[in-house]
Amino acid sequence: MNRKEAKARIAELSAELARHNHNYYVLNNPEITDFQYDLLMMELGELEKKFPEFAVSTSPTQNVGSDLAPAQQFEQFPHKYPMLSLTNSYSIGEVSSFSERVSKGTDIPFTFSCELKFDGTAICLTYKNGKLERALTRGDGTKGDDVTRNVLQIPSIPHTLKEGTGYPDEFEIRGEIYMPYKAFDKLNRQRELDEEQPFANPRNAASGSLKLLDPKAVKGRGLECTLYHLLTDNPVASTHTEALSLASQWGLPVSEHIKECRSVEEVEKYILYWDTRRKELPYATDGIVIKVNQLPVQTSLGYTAKSPRWATAYKFKPEEAKTKLLSIDYQVGRTGAVTPVANLEPVQLSGTKVKRASLHNWDQIKLMDIHTGDYVYVEKGGEIIPKITRVALDDRGFDIVPVEFPQTCPVCGTPLVKDEEEAKHFCPNSDLCPPQIKGKFLHFVGRKAMDINAGEATVEQLYNKGYIKDLADLYTLTKEQLLTLDKWKEKSADNFLKSLEQSRKVPFERVLFALGIRYIGETTAKNLAGEFGNIDAIANATREQLLATEEVGDKLADSIISWFSNPQHASAVDRLRAAGLQMEVDASNKVIESEILKGKTVVISGNFSISRDDMKTLIERHSGKVGSSISGNTTYMVAGEKCGPSKLEKATKLGVEIISEEEFFKIINE
Ligand code: IVH
Repeated sequence: MNRKEAKARIAELSAELARHNHNYYVLNNPEITDFQYDLLMMELGELEKKFPEFAVSTSPTQNVGSDLAPAQQFEQFPHKYPMLSLTNSYSIGEVSSFSERVSKGTDIPFTFSCELKFDGTAICLTYKNGKLERALTRGDGTKGDDVTRNVLQIPSIPHTLKEGTGYPDEFEIRGEIYMPYKAFDKLNRQRELDEEQPFANPRNAASGSLKLLDPKAVKGRGLECTLYHLLTDNPVASTHTEALSLASQWGLPVSEHIKECRSVEEVEKYILYWDTRRKELPYATDGIVIKVNQLPVQTSLGYTAKSPRWATAYKFKPEEAKTKLLSIDYQVGRTGAVTPVANLEPVQLSGTKVKRASLHNWDQIKLMDIHTGDYVYVEKGGEIIPKITRVALDDRGFDIVPVEFPQTCPVCGTPLVKDEEEAKHFCPNSDLCPPQIKGKFLHFVGRKAMDINAGEATVEQLYNKGYIKDLADLYTLTKEQLLTLDKWKEKSADNFLKSLEQSRKVPFERVLFALGIRYIGETTAKNLAGEFGNIDAIANATREQLLATEEVGDKLADSIISWFSNPQHASAVDRLRAAGLQMEVDASNKVIESEILKGKTVVISGNFSISRDDMKTLIERHSGKVGSSISGNTTYMVAGEKCGPSKLEKATKLGVEIISEEEFFKIINE
């Protein structure tokens, strides 16, 4: 790889890792497995080593991912000592190298403390005079969110330490807050009943629960805590295991599975033991943490920017299970995408029984040469539904049947089309295919669209009962009809009708977004509304007029023209208008503070001292347009903290002026 390629790949990897950090730590919704994440991180680390001129201090290899809540929902406090991460190893060879590195760094004999790596979210507790004073999340490693009120609701964390046990006047202790499988299953069952998106795994559930804004709601979540790192100003012990055993005497929860190991061989035994036995634990673990036990050795080894040199994590390979593929169902999603889903002989995997697994698309089925009747390996990634990773070819019997991908939509029978770009099959009958119609309703009622009090199960029932066929039918629903829905009472019906009434006031740009016209996202809906002012002007706009709008490209312009040329859509718009929905921009609603950004397009990237939505509002209030991607039309790019490197690179290439948050405020306050 030459320098130019390396520079581009480093920028790409940094941006990708920043996005995955945000998905994992803030949204609690990872797209990739930890293993895939580690591979990207390793690739970036290697490249930075080879091309140190492109290694920057803001790189994800040098910083821990931030879990700080958006819009500063919690007060933030600095950490007394930085909260770091751990280096990862995937083989015993890497553990040996770790041991050798430690040996080189010290003359003092040392042993290892081996511990389970709990898969939850890190917490830092401060006790003062025996009382829990503050609980901070890891945040960005230097400052964390104050979640004390929530932590006080976790039964295993003592508010007061055991009297007379000799605890120091003030100390910090760090550990993990996790959700045992039982509590996780209960929570997800409830979320499904409440029509809320279930959590993908116990880690996300723990982290999401810890950041709830209502402490009372935290109480019922069944969170638990284990503590594994004591920090005191004056030493209370000479080894880490002694320090933890003292903490346990003070009344703090410490794992019972910590073991002191005297050699790499003993560490290996511990790893092998827990690699199998962890499946019997009532909570999720994703590896073993190996720490140098002698505290003076820890001190002399010290830290890198991101992790201690005295510890490493051996990560377990993602758990997999082998089972028989019984049959394949083809599910039609809200966008018309057809996804093959495998029905499996039930098998135990990471604490839950797995009966179904995703196969993604036809290309994957061909690639893995999957047949029904085959034995396959399933693995849990970031998603709720596990995936099939490979076929156990050695177990292949004679009873296998080749898979035939359907030629027509399994729901409505329309011939499928293949989207080569996305390697997916689609049902093109978007207006009449039931799952797609239900999908349109769900999008329409969504929080960012019309914000109507209805979830998947409600839409499903309303549709199945024949009450709603067309979006406008929502506005003719009667209370009597609503009361025929399963488990619906006066109160739920009233709430629904109230939210329906309120949706009539939803501004035009959100109505435009709610219509579900392909490729119209929130930002483009805003831009189109701003540019054309009302729905008729958009419906009658020429291709050229549409293309002149910020961020409207060929694909979107064609999609808008084709959508409005369908008479069914035109009549749907008329009915929604008659129902009282906003079909034009309400100028009186718009607060204009100045025209300083008139004719200017501003793209924001990264985090700011105010929320990103507030930044966008400010741009609009000063008559600017918000752009979602850098282009030749962009006037300014406001670069916040952790700004995407690929955006920075593009802005530099296109000669877009890059300004800081402070400079942006200066411009608008001029
Ligand atoms: S020690 C300086 N011990 O794993 C870092 N961490 O991937 C000290 N974790 O950030 C961390 N179990 O949130 C330590 N027994 C254990 C752990 C543990 C889980 C988490 C922790 C850390 C992350 C690193």
